[in-house]
Amino acid sequence: MDNRPIGVFDSGLGGLTCIPNLFRQLPEERVIYFGDTARTPYGSKAVSTVKAYTNQIADFLAAQNVKMMVIACNTISSTCLPDLRKRFPDIPILGIIEPAACRVAESCNMESRIGIIATKVTIASGVYTASIEAMHPGLSVFCKATPAFVPLIEEGIIDNEIMDLTIRYYMDDFVKENRLDTLVLGCTHYPLIRKNILKIYPQLKIVNPSYEIVEKVKQVLQDERMLAERNDRENIFYASDLSENFVNMIQNILDTEKSDLILKFKNLDL
Ligand code: DGL
Repeated sequence: MDNRPIGVFDSGLGGLTCIPNLFRQLPEERVIYFGDTARTPYGSKAVSTVKAYTNQIADFLAAQNVKMMVIACNTISSTCLPDLRKRFPDIPILGIIEPAACRVAESCNMESRIGIIATKVTIASGVYTASIEAMHPGLSVFCKATPAFVPLIEEGIIDNEIMDLTIRYYMDDFVKENRLDTLVLGCTHYPLIRKNILKIYPQLKIVNPSYEIVEKVKQVLQDERMLAERNDRENIFYASDLSENFVNMIQNILDTEKSDLILKFKNLDL
């Protein structure tokens, strides 16, 4: 048994899309979340910058004595996972791409037409394609960087025409030309536009890595005998910029009132 919190982090609010399912699957666990809202998006930045920011977040979470780190960000998972594991050899660190690739490998076959949408950094890393190919060689995988989604989502521009037009701009040709039947939401912000995507392309079967990673967290905690016993201490949500927008979005995503949340400002540059 281990009652210490799980550290979950992202460049911004996207990683929050993992949290409701994590609370459902593992109600005894406590979470310390960090969203680098002051410096998001990471997905179009140089990999060296993503690595430097990520080390600051991971150092902060390690100082909070987390028992596990969950990288609820594809961009960071695709670029920083091996370095982070070297930096913290005693803390289990889970990336989000491997569980998603595993789901694709298990659920798709040689007839499947699989699309991956993600940030520029994630797509350029080639990690999704390589992981799927390693687990199920020969599957048809097509990738597309969709960099404007994250800034729009961070701004709360979701249920409207601007988002729908942006989806069509990136995806109409991508879906049609590759005859896609499956779509991996390769960025943890994208589950927030899942409904918009399905409204436009109802034929797509969606793989949501924000969901898949929670299964992996559960499995590792069980295997390592690190599950928590019921504890009543609260979850803490840190952000490097506590904007009004972030506060609104976190309430929506977690379906809770601000008064029920412990929100804290933490600027890693200070
Ligand atoms: N939510 C992130 C991801 O999964 C990062 C988005 C960004 O900062 O560009 O890739």
